[in-house]
Amino acid sequence: MVGVSVLGISGSVGSSTVKVLRQFRDSFSLRSFSVHSNWELAKTLIDEFSPEVVSVTDSQLAGKFGSKYKSTTILYGEDTLIDLVQVTTVDVVVTAVVGARGVKPTIAAIEAGKKIAIANKETLVTFGPLINRLVAKHNTLMVPVDSEHNALFQLIEREKRTNIRAITLTASGGSFRTLPIEELEHVSVKQALNHPTWSMGPKITVDSAGLINKGLEVIEAHFLFGFSYDEIEVVIHPQSLTHGIIETVDGACLQYTSHPDMIFPIAHSLFYPTPTPKMLMERKPSTWKTLEFFPPDLGRYPGLSLAYQAGRAGGVAPSVFNAANEEAVALFLEERISFTAIPKLIENALNKISNSFPEDLEGYLEKDKETRSYIQKEFVRGGVTI
Ligand SMILES: NC(=O)c1ccc[n+]([C@@H]2O[C@H](COP(=O)([O-])OP(=O)(O)OC[C@H]3O[C@@H](n4cnc5c(N)ncnc54)[C@H](OP(=O)(O)O)[C@@H]3O)[C@@H](O)[C@H]2O)c1
Repeated sequence: MVGVSVLGISGSVGSSTVKVLRQFRDSFSLRSFSVHSNWELAKTLIDEFSPEVVSVTDSQLAGKFGSKYKSTTILYGEDTLIDLVQVTTVDVVVTAVVGARGVKPTIAAIEAGKKIAIANKETLVTFGPLINRLVAKHNTLMVPVDSEHNALFQLIEREKRTNIRAITLTASGGSFRTLPIEELEHVSVKQALNHPTWSMGPKITVDSAGLINKGLEVIEAHFLFGFSYDEIEVVIHPQSLTHGIIETVDGACLQYTSHPDMIFPIAHSLFYPTPTPKMLMERKPSTWKTLEFFPPDLGRYPGLSLAYQAGRAGGVAPSVFNAANEEAVALFLEERISFTAIPKLIENALNKISNSFPEDLEGYLEKDKETRSYIQKEFVRGGVTI
């Protein structure tokens, strides 16, 4: 029985993880999890899974549970994510909280010798060099949950590295793939949240609409697999059936294709290195009528070019890219800036905030903080970009 901790069980990835845990009750035991605000769901899951420790990261909810639970310890506040991953019966940690706040529990899980099923891409984008050093030091098994990276992980494992010329991440193109570019400035939050193929949390859905999610994923792929930015490509694939492609030196392309449902990569990452033992869903290739691929229009998706720019610059530039985006997307979701202001704010932050190459977590956190405060000041200033 493998002990599982899920950070952010109440989100989209968290809910899909629960589906997988229900399908494989004989293989996995949920030992700890967190919610931020959804304490009602936490109650239901405590009754169903009897975990040892649960964290409610919104400390304003302290006391909501009273003293009803005798065999489950309830903790409050964001720092308690670290307690969850340190539970001794936990073997694998699914990092499914949203945003760069995932870093501290991820580091704690690496240091505690746990396997990491990493969904929280912002952690790798922001702190990539640091996380990679720790993974190497502790010989950590880190398996990507992001569908594209999980697909590539599986493809790369089957091929000699020297035989791979390039890797390709597919992108659906998001909610506005066919909208006239001049209308992008006036799109609403509701329109942005209407993703054509995936059902995901609000932040990543907005990220997807501008291909900023793909930009984050390009940087994530660089840190996960060690390919240079010239070797990582992006194609628009509206059907979201093919998730990753590797191109071999002889010019052949190997694709990983599956129905767009997060249960596939989540089950793979939980079972790995054991193969997932039973069919999760039957979808025959004959039902996939069309697989289209075409290059992204960078005029429509300026955030993708900015991600490559930040990735190539290295140092804290990816952290600045991520923090600026997190702040800008939050402002967009609050209907305080336009959709097109998001990449403009990121670009300004990349131009204004000096790059550096910190050795430790504090150095990265400082830049993260500096960037967030820069974006807030830009917003208050009502600068031309907004
Ligand atoms: N959704 C996908 O299909 C998908 C695919 C690949 C990768 N990812 C990545 O996985 C991560 C989660 O995405 P998601 O779509 O599942 O997000 P989501 O649906 O928005 O869920 C976010 C989770 O984080 C919790 N949370 C919110 N604010 C928090 C805070 N201040 N402190 C601690 N926890 C907090 C939420 O708790 P409450 O709901 O209780 O407030 C929820 O459990 C992201 O990094 C995303 O990029 C997602």
